[in-house]
Amino acid sequence: MSLKDKLIAEKLPNHIAIIMDGNGRWAKMKGNSRIFGHKNGVNGVKESSEACAELGIDFLTLYAFSTENWSRPKLEVMALMELLISTINSEVDTLMKNNIRLNAIGNLSDLPKKAYEKLMNAIEKTKNNSGLTLILALSYSAKTEIINAVKLISENVKNGEMDINDINEKVFENYLYTAGIPNPDLMIRTSGEQRISNFLLWQLAYSELYFTEVLWPDFNREELYKALFDYQNRERRYGKISEQL
Ligand code: FPP
Repeated sequence: MSLKDKLIAEKLPNHIAIIMDGNGRWAKMKGNSRIFGHKNGVNGVKESSEACAELGIDFLTLYAFSTENWSRPKLEVMALMELLISTINSEVDTLMKNNIRLNAIGNLSDLPKKAYEKLMNAIEKTKNNSGLTLILALSYSAKTEIINAVKLISENVKNGEMDINDINEKVFENYLYTAGIPNPDLMIRTSGEQRISNFLLWQLAYSELYFTEVLWPDFNREELYKALFDYQNRERRYGKISEQL
């Protein structure tokens, strides 16, 4: 029996964010190259996005490449960019078939021209899909995102377009890359590491965190259902006490 049958439809998260970790260790365990691990990591991307689409979840954000990842060996960085291009090429029809809209956050202009153009074309092609929104975090740093928001707001205050007293949490969120996207209800990290690693620092303030030992290439639908089952058995109090909920 699948855990899917035990999930309560009304209690599913609206937005799931995932730190996909463990590709390198997965490959090493198999005596293979890190790049082999990343190639197999595409399975996890497909499994999790298709499962979210089937369940009717609105948003899935995948941490695919951090600004810190640019410091990896050049060959690995190039392979990841090639993988992004080839995955978009091979999967865009599946996105259309599954009614998935592609989106991206991060400093996208850092991407190599070909990867950037492929990404933008796929975003454009899928923009009218109305099911799951799949957001890829690419060349992403939460600290940069926050600094960027502060600069934009400061500029508006300096120009007299905004009063300093108008700045509040809701307004601030409009200046993040994720403007208009609800904050994640659930954040999953694979591979046993228990860190946030500069991912959605603002947006994860009240998210439930789920850590699993499973390495990303082995993360499949059933693993996602496990995380969702765990999530559904938690009480989200947002600082209140149980009796107030
Ligand atoms: C972390 O594993 C994974 C990444 C930095 C890259 C994630 C990329 C993919 C899942 C494949 C391509 C994705 C798309 C969207 C096409 P790691 O290399 O840090 O693993 P390790 O900690 O075991 O070394």
